[in-house]
Amino acid sequence: MNQDELKKAVAKAALDYIAPRLSSDSIIGVGTGSTANFFIDMLADLRTEFDGAVASSEATAERLKGHGIPVYDLNSAGDIEFYVDGADEANERLELIKGGGAALTREKIVAAVARTFICIADESKLVGVLGQFPLPVEVIPMARSHVGREIVKLGGDPVYREGVVTDNGNIIIDIHNLDISRPIQIEEQLNQIVGVVTNGLFARRPADLLLLGTKDGVKSIA
Ligand code: A5P
Repeated sequence: MNQDELKKAVAKAALDYIAPRLSSDSIIGVGTGSTANFFIDMLADLRTEFDGAVASSEATAERLKGHGIPVYDLNSAGDIEFYVDGADEANERLELIKGGGAALTREKIVAAVARTFICIADESKLVGVLGQFPLPVEVIPMARSHVGREIVKLGGDPVYREGVVTDNGNIIIDIHNLDISRPIQIEEQLNQIVGVVTNGLFARRPADLLLLGTKDGVKSIA
């Protein structure tokens, strides 16, 4: 199985997990990225079984609408039973690094609201210690230099992601070589820097279920 086939397998596993738990008024939170895209395309087959979706990015909203799936504003959506999204890295405690696609802030908001966060990823994303993947941080543009200096004080190497503007009009700084052996603490420290909108560590609110695509089938970690 290649990586895309593993991503399709976990997208299907997520669909199979939520399908029997949906009702006609269910609203599903939907993430961003290539794995989430496979999920969206499969979700189209179920579109008569639920009410609609909340999207974690403009790109996801467009893809959902393209399949005829209604997309709601989170503020008027009410209860979100499930949030399904990929990750850039995950550990066995279901703590994640997200934001490779620059959608981390909206992803974190939808994850915070959802009752059950299902993370779907191929096995290459599972790591012992988070941080091989540079940690994305969404930053208010005028605070870029200040935030960069504060990140250096925390021991990381900040790299401005050239040419990227988030859906919220902000910039992304990717942190290389940061010690993330204590993810909750680092998540909180980064969020305390003035000018940081949020960072891509999902440790205070980890996933509830990780569906991991392996060559031997989909593995569930909860
Ligand atoms: C988007 O900002 C990210 O958090 C994605 O969820 C993450 O990058 C996973 O993307 P892939 O499914 O494309 O690997």
